[in-house]
Amino acid sequence: VNNVGMICNDRFAYFLETPDPGKKITDIINCNILSVPQMTRLILPRMVLRGKGLIINISSEMGLRPHPLVALYSATKIFVINFSQCLQAEYKSEGITVQCVTPFMVSTNMTNNLKVNLFVKSAPGFVYDALNTVGHSTFTSGCLSHALQSTAFSILVPDWLRMSTFFIRWLRKSGSIEHCRKGKKN
Ligand SMILES: NC(=O)c1ccc[n+]([C@@H]2O[C@H](COP(=O)([O-])OP(=O)(O)OC[C@H]3O[C@@H](n4cnc5c(N)ncnc54)[C@H](OP(=O)(O)O)[C@@H]3O)[C@@H](O)[C@H]2O)c1
Repeated sequence: VNNVGMICNDRFAYFLETPDPGKKITDIINCNILSVPQMTRLILPRMVLRGKGLIINISSEMGLRPHPLVALYSATKIFVINFSQCLQAEYKSEGITVQCVTPFMVSTNMTNNLKVNLFVKSAPGFVYDALNTVGHSTFTSGCLSHALQSTAFSILVPDWLRMSTFFIRWLRKSGSIEHCRKGKKN
């Protein structure tokens, strides 16, 4: 399971607002992108020899579509999606499954342990649901709630709106991630 991942900021921010950008850009690309093919390179040959294997790569809802204000994170997560889907196509005939998971919100350190509710899954709850999709789907949100949220989000916040200057400015002003966390915790 390729699970490691990090975000750039604890709030929605323009690319040039990334703190310590020289280091942060390298760190996030190493952690979110580079680790995935490098780990795969180490693990996959033995799976091919055995004629079976399962690789689960954790991407994100943020990788499904471009998300301004988390640009770098969003861009790293689409790499994981494309890489996983190509590997699945290349190696399924060798008995290997490569599954890509694109969660919405899960209560972890990354999300400052947001309160679990209808939309935010607990980590154990999410893992339980996601593992139940193995063998049924190679590209999944991981659980029903996140699949429904993903569909609803794409309808309610279509690409033209999400990419608009108006929406980006509104989100930047009102939607600091820290602010959301505090709001949801209360
Ligand atoms: N939480 C969400 O809402 C959410 C939503 C969509 C996708 N995801 C994805 O789910 C995965 C797991 O995230 P999480 O929510 O569980 O976040 P987390 O609580 O912050 O855990 C991230 C994991 O990645 C490891 N990690 C981070 N930077 C690392 C580095 N430079 N080198 C080695 N290990 C590093 C951490 O190791 P340490 O414990 O040693 O720090 C930790 O095990 C990530 O790929 C994330 O992008 C999360």
